[in-house]
Amino acid sequence: MTAPVRYLTGITTTGTPHLGNYVGAIRPTVQASRRPGTQNFYFLADYHALIKCDEPARIQRSTLEIAACWLAAGLDPEHVYFYRQSDIPEIPELTWLLTCVTGKGLLNRAHAYKAQVDKNNAAGVDPDSDVTAGLFMYPVLMAADIVMFNAHKVPVGRDQVQHLEMARDMASSFNHLYGEHFTLPEAQVDEAVATLPGLDGRKMSKSYDNVIALFGPREQMRRQIFSIVTDSRAPGEPKEVEGSALFQIYQAFADEGETQALRKAYAEGIAWSDAKQLLFERIDREIAPMRERYEALVGHPAELEKILKAGAGKARAIATPFMARLREAVGLRNLAAQPQSAGKARTRAALPSFKQYRESDGRHYFKLVDAAGALLLQSVGFASPQEAGRAVARLKQEGLAALGDSARRAEGVTEEQVGAALAQLAAG
Ligand code: TRP
Repeated sequence: MTAPVRYLTGITTTGTPHLGNYVGAIRPTVQASRRPGTQNFYFLADYHALIKCDEPARIQRSTLEIAACWLAAGLDPEHVYFYRQSDIPEIPELTWLLTCVTGKGLLNRAHAYKAQVDKNNAAGVDPDSDVTAGLFMYPVLMAADIVMFNAHKVPVGRDQVQHLEMARDMASSFNHLYGEHFTLPEAQVDEAVATLPGLDGRKMSKSYDNVIALFGPREQMRRQIFSIVTDSRAPGEPKEVEGSALFQIYQAFADEGETQALRKAYAEGIAWSDAKQLLFERIDREIAPMRERYEALVGHPAELEKILKAGAGKARAIATPFMARLREAVGLRNLAAQPQSAGKARTRAALPSFKQYRESDGRHYFKLVDAAGALLLQSVGFASPQEAGRAVARLKQEGLAALGDSARRAEGVTEEQVGAALAQLAAG
């Protein structure tokens, strides 16, 4: 069994899902979650929402709608990790640990922050006017989301690539100081995933007020589609597909053949109203079957709450022990259980020790060496550092009894020797 590739992405819960969210995030993540050999972490970024929105009711409603939307689009919460960020207290905790290894200068360079500063400078006001510390810290919270689960790949839009670079920086600073705890994540920008234009031809976005609601009433969708801006060409006049928002939206829903047919109809001078009707019908064909499920979910928030809580439980089964390990690594330790040390410069007491590491096969291993560094135990490969860590923890707590088939004794090493080393460790 090869280790699965972990994908992770979040959606900020500040608005009602629109067609752009569906095409750009919801639909591709649902499809991707079905690929074999992957583990998928999808979450509602409600802590991030607080940075942009101070209306509690709107945050609550948006969280409900986006969760319902993901499920209505076919996400199987049994099969993926589907959770709400604020249900995982380890995330803000990890945010602090990362904050402490992140240069302020790195955050000064974040696009979102810089854009606000530039705007303020242009307006001749204080550079940090309207900048909360939350906005400034946005990339750190996002990095914590990602490295908490040691995600390999993070599907995001182009605008988020810089945040991924920052997450890598933070993860490697931490690793450098405290040992190899984090996988360095990579952004995955899928060129095949369309960025949808909105009613006015600019990118579909709440902030431009040009969106088509995803699960509004059917009539509303029709009205919105009929308000897509077109040019003034009359029926019968050939029309350009180039730069036509209507055409681009159609393309995001249609297959190759359907797209070719519309291209031809444009050339032959289809009336804008007929093209809009075609678009409406094509979208409705895909969305209508999901609408019922969406409405059922939104109508039963307690059900959704249960699903999210179960997802949080699954996610925390990873986050809680991992956070314990990270606390230990930085020195937030049980005073009684840990040998005192003055930091990195200390010379190690002559004790046996466990070493954890990753091999080029991508799997995670540990070994137990005696005080002189001779090999006592060599583990099998584990899919994750957490699993390897758990096996080590069991050996430390339960001694030889916990060995099972997690590791083998080195040539010529007896059970007694291993048992003695473990006992010595336990006595600390
Ligand atoms: N910042 C992302 C956005 O606005 C949302 C987000 C928060 C996210 N945390 C994340 C995306 C972690 C990927 C991974 O689109």
